Amino acid sequence: MSKLRVQSFAISLDGYGAGPDQDLEHPLGVRGPELMEWFFPTRVWQTMQEEADGETGIDNDMAELGFDNFGAWILGRNMFGPVRGPWPDDSWKGWWGDEPPYHTPVFVLTHHPRAPLQMAGGTEFRFVTEGIHSALEQAKEAAGDRDVRLGGGVSTVRQYLRAGLIDELHFALRPVLLGTGEHLWQGIDLHTLGYEVAKSVAGERATHVFLRKRA
Ligand SMILES: NC(=O)c1ccc[n+]([C@@H]2O[C@H](COP(=O)([O-])OP(=O)(O)OC[C@H]3O[C@@H](n4cnc5c(N)ncnc54)[C@H](OP(=O)(O)O)[C@@H]3O)[C@@H](O)[C@H]2O)c1
Repeated sequence: MSKLRVQSFAISLDGYGAGPDQDLEHPLGVRGPELMEWFFPTRVWQTMQEEADGETGIDNDMAELGFDNFGAWILGRNMFGPVRGPWPDDSWKGWWGDEPPYHTPVFVLTHHPRAPLQMAGGTEFRFVTEGIHSALEQAKEAAGDRDVRLGGGVSTVRQYLRAGLIDELHFALRPVLLGTGEHLWQGIDLHTLGYEVAKSVAGERATHVFLRKRA
């Protein structure tokens, strides 16, 4: 059965999934890139950048899981881009250029309606204003037998966690302290929500922690 999975979500040791003050210059917020330093050297990321080989190893193996068997994605509007409030026009098409790495329908949660955007390589951004349950229903229908990846950002993952809708989560825990930004766990009791740690794997630049719903 199709699952809702969070994969390759980076957090600092003190629980932040993005730095503060996101804008065009700081997609991940100030100091946010420190969260992704496990991912940038991997072959998965380097191949996306059409760069040289990139590193193989545990971090790369974990990054590969992020593109394994997904038929649709769900994103929050802040992960999609730096534009806030009503869309001024259709010029912002995401951070990822003409051919985003999704290659599936991508459901973007927002309060501001917008027509779907068809991109090269099979990605279609569809903007959902009816909330998390509707986005999940649409994403599951689009994904068929494959899983739905909940890409983020932080507030989006928090909402799905609180609603108990996520089946599995993989976090790349980075040994950095951000001190400020978007906090993932604040006010969330994962144990009471029914989650347990399934496994933990030490990678080259992050510790990979997998959570799942208790049986
Ligand atoms: N650490 C990681 O691995 C990782 C992964 C992905 C992203 N990120 C980072 O996380 C940051 C973004 O996280 P974030 O917490 O700021 O925002 P987010 O979750 O990406 O988006 C939040 C926005 O999405 C819209 N939205 C969310 N839920 C909604 C709902 N139920 N109904 C309607 N609209 C809804 C709202 O926008 P409007 O009201 O404006 O429409 C809301 O302000 C970025 O810096 C991104 O780079 C980090």
